[in-house]
Amino acid sequence: MTTDQTPSLKSNFIIAIDGPAASGKGTLARRLARAFNLPHLDTGLTYRAVAAELLAQNLALDDEAMASEIAANIELGNLDKDILSDHKTGEAASKIAVMPGVRKALVEAQRNFASKAPGAVLDGRDIGTVVCPDADLKLFVSASPEVRAKRRHEELISKGKPSDYPEILSDLRIRDERDASRTDSPMKKACDALLLDTSKMDIETAFLAAKKWANAALAAKSKD
Ligand code: C5P
Repeated sequence: MTTDQTPSLKSNFIIAIDGPAASGKGTLARRLARAFNLPHLDTGLTYRAVAAELLAQNLALDDEAMASEIAANIELGNLDKDILSDHKTGEAASKIAVMPGVRKALVEAQRNFASKAPGAVLDGRDIGTVVCPDADLKLFVSASPEVRAKRRHEELISKGKPSDYPEILSDLRIRDERDASRTDSPMKKACDALLLDTSKMDIETAFLAAKKWANAALAAKSKD
């Protein structure tokens, strides 16, 4: 059997992808989900949805009780990337993501998503460490802050949106620091995650590397 064939699954096949903002993890997760016919959950959108609701209602971003209540009622099917993807919402999301009450509610919804057959691809900051510690494949996707800021800057410009590279770089650094230093579920590479540094890779090269690892994980699982 070549590694590109899909063996029958004995149980859920879960791919956990973590990494900082603009590392390329979202694109990789979407492409792997398509290649392996699995549903995909961008867990960042769940944190963004909570933040967006607080902002829409003019509520304080440090109101943990209210944020947790919103988190407990998030409908995963209603997450709209186009609406939630703006820079301000990402910044606000990283502020409410430090709250244990918010994380508890969202992690429960994320685990529920992953528990359904035939499995799933999830991307975020704590998938391999907290949400799906038993995932079949764990990737930690990274790139230098400068490369990530350049990608985000070019993406905004290509969409005709205003962008200031030094500001994007500074915000990314602050967000990385906040995500990596929080007490509850900080962003970190799981000890059994494979590191994919995309600083000098285009997305196609990164995808082919990830797909190879995923095929190997799937083949190993089918032997169990
Ligand atoms: O990935 P994205 O940039 O959309 O995530 C927005 C914010 O949500 C992150 O900066 C992080 O603070 C939070 N997040 C998290 N855990 C996840 C996914 C996102 O804390 N699994």
